Parts: sequence; C-alpha cells; structure tokens
Amino acid sequence: MSDRYAVVGNPVGHSKSPLIHAAFARQTGQDIAYDRLLAPLDAFAVTAKRFFHEGGHGLNVTVPFKREAWDLVDECEGAALSAEAVNTIKRVGNQLIGYNTDGKGLLADLEHNLGATITGKRVLLMGAGGASYGVLQPLLERKPDLLIVANRTLDKAERLVRHFHQHTAAVPQGVMARPYENLGGQPFDLVVNATSAGLEGVMPPLPENLFAPGAIAYDMVYGIETRFLAFARSRGVRCADGLGMLVEQAAESFFIWRGVRPDTAPVIAQLRCDH
Ligand code: ATR
Repeated sequence: MSDRYAVVGNPVGHSKSPLIHAAFARQTGQDIAYDRLLAPLDAFAVTAKRFFHEGGHGLNVTVPFKREAWDLVDECEGAALSAEAVNTIKRVGNQLIGYNTDGKGLLADLEHNLGATITGKRVLLMGAGGASYGVLQPLLERKPDLLIVANRTLDKAERLVRHFHQHTAAVPQGVMARPYENLGGQPFDLVVNATSAGLEGVMPPLPENLFAPGAIAYDMVYGIETRFLAFARSRGVRCADGLGMLVEQAAESFFIWRGVRPDTAPVIAQLRCDH
C-alpha cells in the first residue's frame, strides 16, 4: 500500500496540495497517496490523531489549524519553534514532529524563481497574523537593511516584532512596527502582502511612493489579482502572487517526508497553465 499523506484544514476542498504532491510523486517515482482531510473546526486534534493512528505518514496543515498543530506535535523543528505554528507534520514511529515550511517556501520563490535579493534591502511586511509569523524569521535571517511590519491593528505588529526580537540584531536599520499611514517617504525594495485583505477585495491604505525603483510586490494570496498587486502593477512594479510560494513550501514538506527534492518549476508552470 502507498504511504499516506493529506492536507488537513477547514475548508480544504479548494486546496491545490493534492495536485502538487501527486505531481512531485510522479516526477520523483515516490509511491504515496495524498488526500484532503476536512477537520471540524472544534476537532482538529482528534482528526489528526486518528489519521496517524490509522497509519498516516504525514500531514500538511492549513487554515485555521496551524497553531493547534503546534500544540499537537511532540517536538518542533526549525522555523516552527519560533513561528509557534506548524504546517507540516511527520510521523516518526509514535512521535509527531512539526515543521513550518512557509518561510522557506517564500524565500525559495523570491530568490530562486524571481531572482530577488533580500540582504541589504528595505523590506515591508504587511500583516501581523499567522502568515507573518511564518515568514518573519526567515526574512530576518537574510539580513535586510530595514524591515517594517505594517498592520491595521498596530499592537499586533508590535507584538510580532517583539516576538522575534532575538533575530533582529543583524538588521542595520532595525525592525519596526508601523501603521500604514506612516509608510510615506521611505520607498521599499520588497513589499510582501501577508494580509488576507486581498481575499476580501480590499487593500490596506498605502502611500503613492511605496516602491523603490526595481522593487518587487509579492502577495501571498494566489489565484486572484489582488487590489494590492493591481496597485503595484499599475505603477510599473514587478509583481508576483503566492502560487510559487505554495509550490515551494510543498516541495520542502515533500523533502522532509521523503528525503527527495522535487523540481518545482514544471509544477508551477502546470498550475499557472491550468488556472
Ligand atoms: P492569517 O493567519 O492567515 O495571517 P489572520 O491571523 O486573521 O490570518 O491575519 C490576517 C491579517 O490580515 C491581519 O494582519 C489583519 O489585520 P488585523 O490584525 O488588523 O486584523 C490583516 N487584514 C485582514 N483584512 C484586512 C483589511 N481589510 N485591511 C488591512 N488588513 C487586513
């Protein structure tokens, strides 16, 4: 029987993870089965434990359970420790090991697929929810010149910056929380939208001069042209949605589970083509 994996979430019907992992498995000759697992909102832990009890090998965890997954696992590795959120679980014997591959996925997409440099650059991270917790530490590890976290609710951005304070020393101009209204006059080389505003068809209030020459605008949302990307595109800024990150974080999960690194480029191309 094939080794069993799944993505667990609520909702989960829209998830592209089964398609992505099926493509990785075909490409690398790995014998796996990968399904969608809908967990009731109040029963994530029961659902996940049952999956593993019945022999499941690994789970991807999506909205809204990444924090509960962090509580569930026996041990956390790397970025999951500081993000306090888990998007990948691997069963090793009776132990559940938790990982967070979102940050690595974002970096792989930015650096390998888009050719972006983060070191020495001015970076704006929009949003202070779970998505930002998943990517802030990996962004800081690249030593940007400055990193601003902007959020509608300022104290959440301040809490996020405080949470990662031990990783901020290497950022020359500092890591700061700011309201959107205070972003004028300091153009950024990279702007990452980690808010869910795009899903609501809106955009945080951004100043006209947000982007430095050659800047990249990145929205973690995929499958729709968000107001933020439309705003950036209409100002001649290079834009990317979160599809590449989705595939890259999946590749990292696949590597954790199977020890084999799939080639992401054809999978990203296929998903763009299907869309
Ligand atoms: P996730 O775990 O997916 O990041 P979340 O924790 O609900 O989801 O966080 C959503 C983020 O999008 C938050 O930063 C939220 O801002 P607040 O903290 O002020 O709520 C941000 N967000 C959602 N809708 C927004 C909107 N219309 N304008 C600006 N920011 C928005």
